[in-house]
Amino acid sequence: MLNDWQAMYAGDSMGMLEALWNLPDQCARAWELGLATPLPPGRDVRQVVVTGLGGSAIGGDLLRVYGSGRLSVPVVVNRDYVLPQFVGPQTLVFAVSYSGNTEETLSAYREARERGARLVVLTTGGRLKEMALADGVPVITVPAGIAPRAATGYLFIPTLAVLSRMGMLSGVEAGVEELSRHLQSLREKYKPEVPLDENPAKQMAANFHNRIPVIWGASGTTEVVAQRWKGQVNENAKAPAYWNVFPELNHNELVGFQYPPELLQRLYIVILRDPRDHPRVVLRYAVTREIMEKAVAGVTEVTATGRDGLARLYSLIYLGDYASIYLAFLYGVDPGPVKVIDRLKASLAGK
Ligand code: PA5
Repeated sequence: MLNDWQAMYAGDSMGMLEALWNLPDQCARAWELGLATPLPPGRDVRQVVVTGLGGSAIGGDLLRVYGSGRLSVPVVVNRDYVLPQFVGPQTLVFAVSYSGNTEETLSAYREARERGARLVVLTTGGRLKEMALADGVPVITVPAGIAPRAATGYLFIPTLAVLSRMGMLSGVEAGVEELSRHLQSLREKYKPEVPLDENPAKQMAANFHNRIPVIWGASGTTEVVAQRWKGQVNENAKAPAYWNVFPELNHNELVGFQYPPELLQRLYIVILRDPRDHPRVVLRYAVTREIMEKAVAGVTEVTATGRDGLARLYSLIYLGDYASIYLAFLYGVDPGPVKVIDRLKASLAGK
């Protein structure tokens, strides 16, 4: 199946493969969108909050991880109806919803307005855009027509541009340029036309097929990628997956791989590494791998590539995105539609 690239394009009703191929251009365009938007008033920002759900929230985690060594203020990701108590006039809130109609995000937006927070909205439209326009809140309108999880460039990169223009981040433009170039070279390795025996993304999908992926990242570097891989396997391949982070997992999860042995042989572990991982965490990879190899079906490691943190994060995200779509084809499912989420939202909307 994975060598029949025409069949994959034919079975991809929402153009997930095409959107992935276009990600380098999306990132470049997203930077421009962030540069063009009006800035919220005031400069003394003490905290940044990104509020959103699912594919619209992961950009917040990317900002949190990428910004942790660069921003002088904390970034908190809020996946809820309500905002943390600290949110007030000195908080910059990015309200992010691809559809613009996610009820939790609409509720958090209203709360941010009531608390006098500075707001920027990222959306394709919907009720969120209507409210923001009526309130005079800056809106970054991103192109519609792809799945929210295929729009991470649009939903994340503009936040970097806004923070840069507010004087809170520096050197990001070069990072975005490197990111686009790096993804352009990686897509040549991961695209459907490259056969299985030369394609690391297809090989990763084959590792996951008929197994449960367990994705481990490292705190402060690849943690957000582990979370992203898990979500992409769930939404694209309609399959379970789990994630955790080093070093925390060495203090609990590691112990839980003894029973039941026959089910553990259905797990496949991926360790996502970054060249900047803490040296003590690097030592942990080797010991953990040695312990795990006896317990599960397989363990593999992948290391981020690229100079800047942005390119390195996306180098791993790109691999996971492609692998999760190939896994969908191995299971014979269309990667795009997420009917269960749609059904849940429709059912709640009527209540
Ligand atoms: O990938 C998806 O479709 C979901 O995770 C959505 O992003 C999530 O349900 C939130 O919807 P929206 O991005 O429209 O706010």
